[in-house]
Amino acid sequence: MDKLVEMKNIHKSFDGVVALKGIDFEVGFNEVVGLLGDNGAGKSTLIKIISGVHSFDEGEMYIKGVKINPKKYSVKMAHNLGVETVYQEKALADKQTLWRNIFIGRQITNKLGFLNIKKEKEETDKIMHVLMGFRGIGVNADSAIKTLSGGEREGVAISRAMYFEADLVILDEPTMALSLQEVKKVLKFIQNIKDKGKSCIYISHNIANIHPVSDRFVAIDRGKIVGTYNRKDISLQELSEELIKYTKSSIQIN
Ligand SMILES: Nc1ncnc2c1ncn2[C@@H]1O[C@H](COP(=O)(O)OP(=O)(O)OP(=O)(O)O)[C@@H](O)[C@H]1O
Ligand SMILES: [Mg+2]
Repeated sequence: MDKLVEMKNIHKSFDGVVALKGIDFEVGFNEVVGLLGDNGAGKSTLIKIISGVHSFDEGEMYIKGVKINPKKYSVKMAHNLGVETVYQEKALADKQTLWRNIFIGRQITNKLGFLNIKKEKEETDKIMHVLMGFRGIGVNADSAIKTLSGGEREGVAISRAMYFEADLVILDEPTMALSLQEVKKVLKFIQNIKDKGKSCIYISHNIANIHPVSDRFVAIDRGKIVGTYNRKDISLQELSEELIKYTKSSIQIN
């Protein structure tokens, strides 16, 4: 087993709308892959297949060498295989506290099966300081998510994924614009994932952000992979010229 994720000839339609047309896609161990493409290209659909949200109609998928049965695969199975996703749509419950958001769906219980809230709060404090590097005064386990900045919220979702020992963290960047400061934080989290020997798929519309943290780029256009590039072989300038090519070809009238 030399790949963390392997997809071969994956097809996916939604009630006649073809979203993916024969995708071959791989993620290696300890690799950060930047997934690029225009709106509606199929990026979210692709990662939702890996994370068990959507099934696929045709093709083969392996995670850590395990052959995935599309009829049986689920988000829970993806978690068990070490795949954690931070979704483009709201990843966290706004009105809830930080600690509740971290342990949502995976509560710590004591021997009698009762919730161990004290432990959950202590762990949240640890996560914030060790994984997220929060030094912030005012932010603690009891803070409500809505009081955090956009970048901090992404940080919470990413840290949660890391806390549960994900081997693959998938990030579907929110369309909501992040400030430069917040983007920097997210990039630092990705660097952290890489340093810990884990892998990441990072979807972003901003290739200037994605370029320095990625090992490899995969471009997708109208449901097909149209290019893959190693970071060491392509400059930011060259990569953006490549992507413009696809944007141009997609507005051509044949
Ligand atoms: N649940 C769904 N039901 C029907 N069609 C869908 C569904 N999800 C995606 N699609 C369609 O599949 C295609 C690919 O969508 P997808 O969300 O994967 O694009 P994307 O690359 O993530 O775009 P964006 O950058 O805007 O997030 C689009 O035509 C979209 O309308
Ligand atoms: Mg999307």
